[in-house]
Amino acid sequence: MAFYINSYEQYTEDYTRALLNPEEFWADIANNFEWSQSWDKVLEYDFSEGRNQWFINAKLNITINCLDRHAAATPDKLAICWEANSPETPNRQYTYKELLDRVCQVANGLKSKGIVKGDRVCIYMPMIPELLISVLACARIGAVHSVVFGGFSPKALAERMQQAEAKMLITSDVAYRGEKVIDILTAARVAYQISPTAKQMLIFDRSGEGKTYPEQSFSDFDSVANAQSTHCPAEIMDAEDMLFILYTSGSTGTPKGIVHTCGGYMVYTGYTFANVFQYKEKDVFFCTADIGWITGHSYMAYGALLNGATQLMYEGVPTYPDASRFWQLIEKHKVTHFYTAPTAIRALMALGDEYVQGWDLSTLKVLGSVGEPINEEAWHWYNEQVGKERCPIVDTWWQTETGGIMISTIAGISQSIPSWAGYPLVGVQMAIMDENGEEIHSNEADGALCLKTPIPSLLRTTYGDHNRCKNTYFSAYPNHYFTGDRAKRDAEGRYRIIGRMDDVLNVSGHRIGTAEVENVLNQHIEIVESAAVGYAHPIKGEAIAAFVIPFAPVEDKNKLFAELQFMISKEIGSFSKIETLVVVTGLPKTRSGKIMRRILKKILANEPDYGDISTLLNPEVVEEIAQQVSSLK
Ligand code: WTA
Repeated sequence: MAFYINSYEQYTEDYTRALLNPEEFWADIANNFEWSQSWDKVLEYDFSEGRNQWFINAKLNITINCLDRHAAATPDKLAICWEANSPETPNRQYTYKELLDRVCQVANGLKSKGIVKGDRVCIYMPMIPELLISVLACARIGAVHSVVFGGFSPKALAERMQQAEAKMLITSDVAYRGEKVIDILTAARVAYQISPTAKQMLIFDRSGEGKTYPEQSFSDFDSVANAQSTHCPAEIMDAEDMLFILYTSGSTGTPKGIVHTCGGYMVYTGYTFANVFQYKEKDVFFCTADIGWITGHSYMAYGALLNGATQLMYEGVPTYPDASRFWQLIEKHKVTHFYTAPTAIRALMALGDEYVQGWDLSTLKVLGSVGEPINEEAWHWYNEQVGKERCPIVDTWWQTETGGIMISTIAGISQSIPSWAGYPLVGVQMAIMDENGEEIHSNEADGALCLKTPIPSLLRTTYGDHNRCKNTYFSAYPNHYFTGDRAKRDAEGRYRIIGRMDDVLNVSGHRIGTAEVENVLNQHIEIVESAAVGYAHPIKGEAIAAFVIPFAPVEDKNKLFAELQFMISKEIGSFSKIETLVVVTGLPKTRSGKIMRRILKKILANEPDYGDISTLLNPEVVEEIAQQVSSLK
């Protein structure tokens, strides 16, 4: 059986095979990887308990598959080419052999600082090679990495470090993003100091200033690594040992630590990278996601390297020094596969076609989209201006929790239709549920999107609290994993993702919980209660409106707005800032006291069919809020 899908017929054949005999199918796929010991059984699962386990008792180390295999076969092949924020800074390159050597040095460095298998290491860094190297170094020695996106505030970082009981923090002195120089070390220091389990901090000297630190437990990243051997035996891991934790937002409570394990995650990310993108040996992959999010984990750090790919890594923003930076990079590095988010496409589209024209984009073969629904206008612009109407677009739908792409067209093999993600991948059985919780069996359907059976990279648990995992994902629809998304299915079985059904916001492709934002708003001394609600935004996809009830009439709304923004940046990160502030005297509530965000959403969308509001505790506020909102426009 082939690992690669080469035709639509093969996709359907493999799909059927995986449906009828998933264990045999995934065993065949898994045999394309290197294991130190094979499995006794491929799959055991019980969705009623929120459990799934793959490749039982198999042993492996994912970095052998990402690095050693390629360093032996193609040592001089380029693994990573890194471009700095500033076009003036020379790029840095690592062949597979060089990357393996450096990962081993850093891995030995971690050991020298007392890190052992199973310890959690938190990584808070800009998009520099050392971020990727640190991730792989943890995996090399069996330490569990927990990467926190560099845009999070010290408070958010500390929360994640404390929840994961991280023993070490790896960071850099500064981060460069466009014109800005961000002092991320100060943020890291604050978080480190309030995290009782953290014992060591490694700091990469991004500025090149050679700073020294008075703290005994602080070390310079390169000094620690340079002193080490380039040989580090890979820790042999059980397939179900934890590989990493990645925190993500849900509709309630604090962010959840999504747990992925070594074996299944490797098999699924490796398989989907090869097939969705149809990556071929000499291709150059460029994913613009940050490794702080799941896309960077699954398709840069792991998926691409598992396939021995060459990839471009970029530190900065799409608009620096100007809005042609991505296209310049594609020309310069002869990029064949470009994977980005709709929000970036919309932002660049809005700045004008002149930036994309005049660059040689003829090497491009495949374009990808991820993170949020892509609207038709952005899809067409991407197709025409970037792909010159000759590159298939893969609109890849998936989640932090699923670890890998679940629904997507396969580049050049299944047809791309604007705003339709396409068919489920091989091994993926989706279901759409109606309002009564019953599966809709007819092809054409619209409802809650669920997964019927596990895939190898489905989350195993939420760190430290399995009940939370069970209740969040496996209880709404018995014996199904609920994605939180609403989807439509057409007569041919293609899926279109409509968006979240729960209170999760998706601002510029970043997942943010309404509760997280409200917690911050409610801390403001003038605010009694608040509701954060998403509404359609031309660039961000979704923007946040904050409805707030003040204790006393607000005298200076601009001041309040600025104070709230400051608080959000401090508590969560500036990517969670609100777009609109609406000061109200009440929020629509049910008689049991639940805020009816659905009504607020309708008001923002200017859809006055609010449904029956007479049963509300306070129906009169609805009209008042609607007037407030329309006066803002
Ligand atoms: C949304 C990102 C439409 C969706 C990989 C999902 C998408 C959430 C798409 C997960 C897409 C992601 N089309 N919506 N192609 N990709 N989403 O965990 O609502 O950051 O549930 O993972 O993003 O976001 P997360």
